[in-house]
Amino acid sequence: MPPTLKEQFQSRPCHIAIIMDGNGRWANEQGLPRLEGHKNGVKNVEEVVKLANELDLRVLTLFAFSSENWKRPRSEVSGLMELLGDFLTNRESLLHDNKIKLRIIGRKWELPRHIQALLNKTEKATQKYEKTLCIALSYGSRTEVIDAFKSLYEDIQKGACNPKDLDWNCIEKHLYTEGLPDPDLIIRTSGETRLSNFLLLQGAYAEIYYSPKYWPDFDRNEFVKALELYASRERRFGKTGEQVKAGC
Ligand code: IPE
Ligand code: IPE
Ligand code: MG
Repeated sequence: MPPTLKEQFQSRPCHIAIIMDGNGRWANEQGLPRLEGHKNGVKNVEEVVKLANELDLRVLTLFAFSSENWKRPRSEVSGLMELLGDFLTNRESLLHDNKIKLRIIGRKWELPRHIQALLNKTEKATQKYEKTLCIALSYGSRTEVIDAFKSLYEDIQKGACNPKDLDWNCIEKHLYTEGLPDPDLIIRTSGETRLSNFLLLQGAYAEIYYSPKYWPDFDRNEFVKALELYASRERRFGKTGEQVKAGC
């Protein structure tokens, strides 16, 4: 039996976040409508969730819809929402089979009502599991900062927080990602080398792997390449290499 991903990688991330990009170009290159690209993108989500489980990953975050993606043609936005609805209705078993809880980050309240209801139902039904599939929907780091400021301000007004004591721990509690570890590895597919407003604060020390493959073609081989890159890095968090080697 070949080794599992967990056996293959001693040094492995605890949280991987993926910018699933390139569905549209994947479809264009095959003369298909963009929505076909998104459909194949959803199929690939299932494959990558299984790979993450084989790695025994604690958190997998997938960037599925950004705060800026609302600017796309209305038909594409509604097609994407429909695909999300289908996924939640028909594929909840993927989460149960792999013992994964669903967590949404982003402005959930901006999504269509029936999608919000499905998301709430699935989040509740999978809450008991330890591993997390976090889906970023209507997510953008800048809106996250705005929303964090607003809720922090409310806490200050209520007297629950003294601005003089503000530190990163306190700010972190007001981000959508409250309670989640920071991503150790961010992967972006489709050859683009930008972060597009994704986890800009949480990814402060993330390693980044840019895959040339479009998201529907991102496979085990590419996942392994990203893990190899991660394993080859020395993460110093501002210290010197000597300090890190000495374990201090
Ligand atoms: C990523 O693929 C999916 C979403 C942003 C919803 P794109 O739709 O951005 O695909 P490209 O970048 O146009 O190829
Ligand atoms: C980022 O991809 C958002 C998601 C993958 C959901 P985009 O395709 O929206 O990013 P830009 O516009 O190319 O930067
Ligand atoms: Mg794109």
